[in-house]
Amino acid sequence: MIRKGILLAGGSGTRLHPTTQATSKQLLPVYDKPMVYYPLSTLLLAGIREVLVISTPADLPQFQRLFHDGSHLGIRISYAEQARPEGIAQAFLIGEDWIAGEACALALGDNLIHGDHLSTLLRAASARPEGATVFAYQVRDPERYGVISFGADGKAVDIVEKPLKPESNWAVTGLYFYDKRITDVAKKIKPSARGELEITDINHWYLNEGSLHVERLGRGTAWLDAGTPDSLLQAATFVQTIQTRQGNLVGCPEEIAFRMKYIDAEALRACSKLIGKTELGRILKDIADGTHE
Ligand code: TTP
Repeated sequence: MIRKGILLAGGSGTRLHPTTQATSKQLLPVYDKPMVYYPLSTLLLAGIREVLVISTPADLPQFQRLFHDGSHLGIRISYAEQARPEGIAQAFLIGEDWIAGEACALALGDNLIHGDHLSTLLRAASARPEGATVFAYQVRDPERYGVISFGADGKAVDIVEKPLKPESNWAVTGLYFYDKRITDVAKKIKPSARGELEITDINHWYLNEGSLHVERLGRGTAWLDAGTPDSLLQAATFVQTIQTRQGNLVGCPEEIAFRMKYIDAEALRACSKLIGKTELGRILKDIADGTHE
């Protein structure tokens, strides 16, 4: 099982200017929690308990204020700066010493994935000893993403970053699992024409080797990124809709840490106290007390 995961929460957030001129995109609220709670939840659901948060030098202290060392969640959170946004794949170079030659997952700090059977898929990806796993999702605007095309046998044949003419509408989501060669692979790739170390180039390396596993997420799963005014609002409405209809939480690391038995009821009660008299704090208290339906 993969033990380590990077939460990448830097970047410039230009599509959310002026809001993100003075604050981190990944700390903006998506309904009742900071955006970064959602990808952290995904990592926890995958069984990952060692997390490296990477952000800009200006924003990193705010993430430390939010998560501290992670012990309240029964996990270990470390921090590293990305001096300039030189690409998603740079995370593995920044994190090289922390990764220490192990397998490692990566979650983008502005991505939310929610759906049935997600934990099972995540655990399967984490248990795969060799190669890489990425998740593909059908979208109407594939040209904004890395796009995967499939052959007649359903196997991935190509993956292209932001293609002008996409071969399919299957976009690569911001969640990746790599085997222990990841740091070496990241060192092999060169900056692209836009000057970034592209995660698509890493995925392409595994594809060429025949070891890229592509998991297609179906209609029962929601994948949202919250990087534009519209998608941020849609993500918030999505979380609000599910939570108020079901009473179940979407993307709450405190709840997941408890359900995964990383923390006990007393520790969850302490988390709920910190969150205070909000609906979220109340639900967490009910979960800790065993009175949440
Ligand atoms: P993007 O959404 O591609 O870029 P961005 O966040 O800088 O936003 P914009 O396009 O509006 O300028 O990044 C995807 C995620 O990866 C996001 O959570 C930010 C993060 N990221 C980094 O942390 N460092 C980087 O060098 C890049 C390119 C992205």
